[in-house]
Parts: sequence; C-alpha cells; structure tokens
Amino acid sequence: MRRRTDYAPTMNDELDDLPEHVRLNRASWDLAAADYVAAGERCWAADEPTWGIFGVPEADVRFFRDDPSGKDAIELGCGTAYVSAWLARRGARVVGIDNSPKQLVTARRLQREHGLDFPLLLGNAETVPYPDASFDVAVSEYGAALWADPYAWIPEAARLLRPGGLLAFLTNHLLAYLCVPDLEADGPVDERLKRPMFGMHRITWPDDETGGVEFHLAHGDWIRLLRTSGFEVEDLVELRPPEGSTTTYDWMRLEWARDWPCEEVWIARKRA
Ligand SMILES: C[S@@+](CC[C@H](N)C(=O)[O-])C[C@H]1O[C@@H](n2cnc3c(N)ncnc32)[C@H](O)[C@@H]1O
Repeated sequence: MRRRTDYAPTMNDELDDLPEHVRLNRASWDLAAADYVAAGERCWAADEPTWGIFGVPEADVRFFRDDPSGKDAIELGCGTAYVSAWLARRGARVVGIDNSPKQLVTARRLQREHGLDFPLLLGNAETVPYPDASFDVAVSEYGAALWADPYAWIPEAARLLRPGGLLAFLTNHLLAYLCVPDLEADGPVDERLKRPMFGMHRITWPDDETGGVEFHLAHGDWIRLLRTSGFEVEDLVELRPPEGSTTTYDWMRLEWARDWPCEEVWIARKRA
C-alpha cells in the first residue's frame, strides 16, 4: 500500500506486448524509484536482514530458513536488490529480476559500491527468461508478491524452482489491506473493515497518482493457489514489530501493528 500524490505517470508505447498492469507498474515504479534510493542504501549497508516496513529482525521471521549457501536463488521484483545482496553474502548464486529500469539503476550502482556482482535482469516476474527448474530458492519482499498477478507469478515461481525448492515472500497482511482507508487523507489504518474480503485480487488506490496496480489475496486463496501450483505451505508468519520500532509509512501505526499483523510472510516448498 504505497500512495503518493506528487507524480504524473507516463506510458511507453514500446511496452505494448506486456500485460496492462505490468506496463502501469513499470511507469509507476520508474516514477517512485527516487523515493526508494535511501532505503536501498540503508539495507545494502546492513549485514543482518530485517523485514517489512518496521524492520522486523530475521530471527523473528526466518525468511532465509534454508541455508542459502551454494544455492541458486532468484529474487522476483528485486527493486534495489538488497535482499539479493543479503543472499549473495550468504553464499547464494543469486539473480534479481525487476520490471523498473530506474530501480535497477540504483541496484547496479549499489552492486558497484559494495563490490558484489550478480545478474540483474529487466523483466516481468510473471514470465522469467530461465529454463524450468533453474533455482533452489525464490524470494520476493514486496516485489512480485504485491505488484505482479499471483495467478501468473506463483505458477511461474513453481516452474523456476527445482523439486524441494523454497519460495518465501512478504506482502501486506490481509487485515491491513481490509482496514486501510481508500484515501490517505482519511488517515492511517484503523480497527474497521473497509472493503470486502471475498473477491479481492487487483486494486488501484484512488489517490495513487503513480497509477500503480497491486494484488492482494485472502489467505484461503493463497493456500489454494500455492497448492494447485505444486507447493506445500510450510508456514505463514504474521509479522509483529518489536516495541519502539518505527516506520516511514503514514498508512500504518505501530500501536495497530502491535495488535494485528500488518505484514505476512509465506513459506512454501515445491513438491518433490
Ligand atoms: C517495493 S519494491 C520491492 C523490492 C525490494 N524489496 C526493494 O524494496 O527495493 C517493488 C518492486 O517490484 C517491482 N515489480 C513490480 N511488478 C513487477 C513485475 N511484474 N515483475 C518484476 N518486478 C516487478 C517494481 O519495479 C519494484 O522495483
């Protein structure tokens, strides 16, 4: 749930062969990329992973629950690619793919500054140019997990993973999605449900002038989609920020996130 009011989106006609939401999200993320540079720099400089908008420690999440060392890994919607950097430093052979050329400019600069080199591809995480069974690990932190169509990227992740491979992704929690007001001007998340849970899938926020398209699923739908795509669900971690943590995102409040989860991490394993 990312809303800003000071952008004017543009579209590029050369992208006509991409699905509409992918074209819209490329324009949206190229506009927003400058706002994500500082966070990218901070996270690249950090050795210990922290997750989500409050920076929950890895020990509370266990996002990297398979030792990444020696594994082939892909980050789907890598943005500034700090999750890929954390995987590379833990010994993974990692590839990042992202739909925004401008996000990848930041990622490539940070690679140079930190002396890490791994492939960064411009592309759509729903159709990744790698053969079947190329990876042991697929991850997404607010990348494909929020901005790509789950009915396309989850089967694609299953195709890319080897049997026994691990999928880990983080996105907004169902409850946060249901309780955030339509308009940022109406204040942050509160304790009332604002929209139906049944039928949830694609959403555009009325005051997001970047024109971005998000995708949210109810938990039953995630479980069915993962299972029919060839995964077993191993865990659903509902993130609780530590007391005293802070976020730069106005739509969420620590008091709310201490009582209800604002983010969820799914851990699923490709069936052997
Ligand atoms: C909030 S960033 C998350 C990435 C990373 N964790 C970070 O914070 O830099 C969301 C990223 O998802 C990318 N994205 C959106 N739709 C995508 C798609 N269909 N395929 C690949 N990347 C996509 C955007 O370009 C953007 O860089």
